[in-house]
Parts: sequence; C-alpha cells; structure tokens
Amino acid sequence: MTWLITGGAGYIGAHVARAMTDAGERVLVLDDLSAGRPARLPAHLPLVEGSSLDGDLLKRVLAEHAVTGVVHLAARKQVGESVADPTRYYRENVGGLATLLEAVAEAGIRRFLFSSSAAVYGNPDVDLITEDTPCAPVNPYGETKLAGEWLVRAAGRAHGISTVCLRYFNVAGAASPELADTGVFNIVPMVFDRLTRDEAPRIFGDDHPTPDGTCVRDYIHVADLAEAHLAAARRLTEPDASGDLTVNIGRGEGVSVRELITVIGEVTGDARPAVVRARRPGDAPRAVACAALAAEKLGWTARRGVREMAESAWQGWLLHHGGRPGD
Ligand SMILES: NC(=O)c1ccc[n+]([C@@H]2O[C@H](COP(=O)([O-])OP(=O)(O)OC[C@H]3O[C@@H](n4cnc5c(N)ncnc54)[C@H](O)[C@@H]3O)[C@@H](O)[C@H]2O)c1
Repeated sequence: MTWLITGGAGYIGAHVARAMTDAGERVLVLDDLSAGRPARLPAHLPLVEGSSLDGDLLKRVLAEHAVTGVVHLAARKQVGESVADPTRYYRENVGGLATLLEAVAEAGIRRFLFSSSAAVYGNPDVDLITEDTPCAPVNPYGETKLAGEWLVRAAGRAHGISTVCLRYFNVAGAASPELADTGVFNIVPMVFDRLTRDEAPRIFGDDHPTPDGTCVRDYIHVADLAEAHLAAARRLTEPDASGDLTVNIGRGEGVSVRELITVIGEVTGDARPAVVRARRPGDAPRAVACAALAAEKLGWTARRGVREMAESAWQGWLLHHGGRPGD
C-alpha cells in the first residue's frame, strides 16, 4: 500500500503521517502549505507542494507514486472565516474533495478516508451523540463537512471505492512539541494565549444546564486521533472492507470548560480564576460522542486523558511561542 495524505503538513495530518510511517505504511504528503509546515514532517517523507484543487497535479502524483489509498485532511477549518467567506469554504473543502475524488476514481484507487467533524451534528440536544443523531450543521464549515461526507459516500458507491468518514470531536494536545497546533482557534491554545498575555481565561456562560453551568465537550488527544486513522486505514485494506463507514472519534466523556481550565492552570502553574462572560449565541451546552461504534468497527478506543492533552499542548506552546502570546 502507498497512502497519499492530503493536508499532511498540518497539525492533525502530521500526526497521522507519523503514526502511519511508524506503523510501517508507505506514505507521501500533498499540502499547499497555506497552513501547514514542512518542518513537521520527517526529512525522508516525500512532500508534494500543491492543492487538492489542481486535478492535473493530483492525477500525476497518484500515478507517479502508484498510490493505492488516500487520507484526505486538506481543508479550511475556521468556523468564523467560513461564515464570512462561505463560497471559499465550499470551493476549497467541497470543490477540492470533488477534484480529488475524480482523480482517485480515474486512477482506480479503492480506499479513501475522509476527515469529517462533529460540526456536522450542529447542536443536538442529546446526552451522547451517536452516528444516527440527525446532522444539522449550524455554520458553513460544518455544512462543507456534511456535503463532503455525502460526496465521499456517493463517489464510493459509483466507483467501487471503500470509504471511511471520521467525525472528530475536540482535538487537542501533541505527540511531541514540534507537531503542536500553532494556531489560536481552539480553547486550549486560546487559554494559553490569555495566560501569556497576563490575562484571565474567559468562560462564556456559567448558566448552561450542565453540572457546573459551563459548556461540556469531548476532548480527544491528537495522538489517539492519529491511531484512529491508522486503524481505519488498516480496516480499508481488509479483504471484506467494501462499502462505507462513518464513525465518531471521541472519548465518550464530557469535560466542562471550567474543569479544562482548572487542569490547564495546574499544568501551566498559572491557576488564576477565569472571568465569566455572557453565553455566546449558538453554543451547545453539551456535545459528547458515543464512542462505541469506533470501538466495534475499528477496534480503536482513545487512551489519553485531558491532563496529557494539556501538558503536551503546553510544551508545544512553549516551543512555538516561547512563552509569548500567539500571533
Ligand atoms: N483541529 C480540529 O479540532 C478538527 C476537528 C474536526 C475536524 N478537523 C479537520 O481535520 C483536518 C485537518 O485539520 P487541522 O486541525 O490539522 O488543520 P490544519 O490547518 O493544521 O491542516 C490543514 C492542512 O491542509 C492544508 N491545506 C488546506 N487546504 C488545502 C488544499 N486545498 N490543498 C492542499 N492542502 C491544503 C494546509 O496547508 C494544512 O497543512 C481538516 O479537514 C479539518 O477540517 C479538525
């Protein structure tokens, strides 16, 4: 097997590339480096600089490297940006996927793994979100992920491609500091950013219907997520792996914003109390995965907890920001 990992120079993609190469898989990366960094990748790993929107390049790369499976992570991922510029998100996330799937079908590739997101669910009012919970995304980013899933499954059926869509919940942490997320778009780096600016972390709403009044989420260590990709890739190579599979990738355990901030305070040694602001419109009180299907179908379960996520993310923050605020 030779796997093409699109977006492999990004935060999650680099972890997936490392987990798959460590497990003995042959891997190459395609990334337009709009958000990725080549330094995240081992020097020997082939990196093609290019876009998933470039069909000719994709066809050439798939043929030249005799690619037999694709892991597609390349995408824009900022919710606010998707609200401000939805056409760009549809063009790059859905259009890029369509271009890639055309090239995959033409090359006769039969295995395809797609990075989806819990954003496809929107804000369902359930204790645990299962894969059967109705999808109702609340922003264009989530819509592009849901449309992407539909496209992946339809192309799979039309061209005999076995597909897996992984719906990631809240990703955090790093397998090693140099692989850490350098953006400040998720709660863990946002809290680090506040602390290094000498400001108190913020909590948006402590009057939600949750045990401590703050929002509850399902945090997943990126190293566990990378192992889920490896398990999914292995499943796709089994002889009976036809059809499509869509699974949640979470821990099945809720952690409140206040609990998370307490852990971050312990890890950073800066346990200043958070300030409470008004609720943000559209924030679901609770979003926690049912993780049973991933265990059943992929034989995968998350192993790492929130403390490991916070500690490893903090080491990455210190390496990339040197104790300074983010850009
Ligand atoms: N980080 C999360 O919490 C999270 C949660 C759910 C789903 N996801 C999904 O996981 C995937 C990876 O996310 P990430 O957090 O590693 O983001 P990231 O921005 O670090 O990585 C995305 C990578 O894709 C590359 N890229 C973007 N558009 C491209 C294109 N058209 N052609 C080629 N390369 C392109 C970027 O340069 C970057 O290296 C995305 O599909 C994202 O939607 C992320």
